[in-house]
Amino acid sequence: MRYQIAPLYCRPWTINGMTPRQIESHYENNYGGAVLRLNAIADELAALDPQTAPAHVISRLKQEEMAALNSTLLHELYFASLGGDGRAVPEAMAAAITRDFGSVDRWRHEFIALANALAVSAGWALLTWVPREGRLINQSVSDTSPGVAGGITILALDMYEHAYHLDFGANSAAYVATFMRNIDWGAVQGRYDDAIEAKPPRPLVQKEFGDLPSVTIDEVRVMLQSGEPVQVIDTRPRHYTSRAQDIVEGAVWRDPERVDEWIGELSKTTPVVTFCVYGFHIGCQTAVALRKAGFDARYMAGGHFAWKAVKGPVKLFDPAALS
Ligand SMILES: [Fe+2]
Repeated sequence: MRYQIAPLYCRPWTINGMTPRQIESHYENNYGGAVLRLNAIADELAALDPQTAPAHVISRLKQEEMAALNSTLLHELYFASLGGDGRAVPEAMAAAITRDFGSVDRWRHEFIALANALAVSAGWALLTWVPREGRLINQSVSDTSPGVAGGITILALDMYEHAYHLDFGANSAAYVATFMRNIDWGAVQGRYDDAIEAKPPRPLVQKEFGDLPSVTIDEVRVMLQSGEPVQVIDTRPRHYTSRAQDIVEGAVWRDPERVDEWIGELSKTTPVVTFCVYGFHIGCQTAVALRKAGFDARYMAGGHFAWKAVKGPVKLFDPAALS
């Protein structure tokens, strides 16, 4: 497979405060160089037999491939970010930025600060859509550290020195200000519209219990902290609890094999939250049994380990006290 060079998107003579010479040199030498490097690496990889090639050779080539591919893609985004009136943020784009950053000004200050911080180390300042969260973030990356997984970048600012040294010398702050004045917001808006069409990763829902109401770890924390009446029941299997050392603060352990023996202790007017080790199966089955008996029961998604993973409070658990 050959990577094709993309035409220069922005029109260099329209960039206010940057010379065509700077843009042309950047496009030809740095972007063009990345595409050539990428194809040369791809040829080397294609010529290798992965079953016999030394691991360090494959590892190095794949690292170099990632760097060259990132450089290629981000340069294309960079040139496609320039050529407009940086002040004229379209209404829909301004609304999205305001939603995720508080205001366009705040976003602008954060993005500029991020870019200026790269003056020493070099890299890219990016505005990126994160499908899992359904929000925009600013991030700074390098060719070898590509940034947030699954993110879709819609605006890219090149902070490698080659991007500005002809016009600005070491004055990277003036270059950043010039970039901000020349952002093509119409093009950014177009990429944003495409990005939000990307589906987030599939939710991690246990299909078997897909219809069963659940609560999140955070919701349970809020219930417990606020003193809201709730019955939190740890239904980890007995064989598991015999080697467990801790239990969610505010929960009581009950044997999931003996629901009939303890169901009478519960109040039907107070919500019940059940959970087990990983937050499905046993915890869900218990919630199903309680719901059938008329309780307002839900299971806590993620269970004991998700609670611990977010440093939810726990207390010492004495398995000996169970018998
Ligand atoms: Fe560059």
